[in-house]
Amino acid sequence: MQVSRCPERSTTVVGTSLTLDQLVAAGLLIVGAGTLIEAGVEICHPTRAGERRLVAIGAGCHIRSGTVVYSGVVLGDRVQTGHHVMIRENATVGSHSVVGTGAVVEFGTIVGERVLIETRAYVTALMVVEDDVFIGPGVVTTNDRRMLWRREGAGQRLVGPILRAGARIGGGAVLLPAVEVGTRSVVAAGAVVTHDVPAFAVVAGNPARIIRMLSPDDEPVLDVGQ
Ligand SMILES: CC(C)(COP(=O)(O)OP(=O)(O)OC[C@H]1O[C@@H](n2cnc3c(N)ncnc32)[C@H](O)[C@@H]1OP(=O)(O)O)[C@@H](O)C(=O)NCCC(=O)NCCS
Repeated sequence: MQVSRCPERSTTVVGTSLTLDQLVAAGLLIVGAGTLIEAGVEICHPTRAGERRLVAIGAGCHIRSGTVVYSGVVLGDRVQTGHHVMIRENATVGSHSVVGTGAVVEFGTIVGERVLIETRAYVTALMVVEDDVFIGPGVVTTNDRRMLWRREGAGQRLVGPILRAGARIGGGAVLLPAVEVGTRSVVAAGAVVTHDVPAFAVVAGNPARIIRMLSPDDEPVLDVGQ
């Protein structure tokens, strides 16, 4: 296994199409102290148009093998990726968040802090995921209601869901474009969310319906430090 180390940053970069030093020298990469980038990670993958833009990776991150971080991505401090993760151009992932194995964060999406994106979840383009959201394994989010790609203006019609702070999305749920999932609400495993979910609601089924309401005092988030 070929490993190169950059001591002044405590950072290891292996097997990118451009080395860490090349990316830094070109003004295309900033990496915080203590970040570990495993073998087989690609950083600053060019956009479809072939452009490379600055990638900023915070301190104490762990980027696991098989991850592809596209051009223009910003990762906060202590972000972790599993294996074979893709983070597309201009996406942002906030501090202490985890993007699990096989998950995809599409272009332009903003993921907040302390967000857990579980294995093989698909976080579509142009979404907003606020702080402390849980996205279960295999969740599918969508942004193109009528699937009119390759039509004129198709890109402008994309509208991703908004997941408000503390929302929890159960495994295998499907969220339709533009739905807003309210603060600390719960989407049951396998639900198909076609309408907005109110704050503190628990919804289930296809189409998802409210099965009960949580009180703001239910299941408080514990501050266990970082
Ligand atoms: C939605 C959920 C939170 C509800 O949990 P709960 O409040 O303990 O609810 P209960 O298990 O008491 O079920 C209440 C009712 O909702 C139904 N229900 C529960 N989960 C459901 C689901 N995913 N889809 C459809 N109906 C569901 C139950 O069958 C029950 O109906 P009944 O009263 O007719 O028997 C839970 O079932 C769930 O789906 N959790 C997601 C788990 C997950 O994906 N975790 C990801 C990380 S592993």
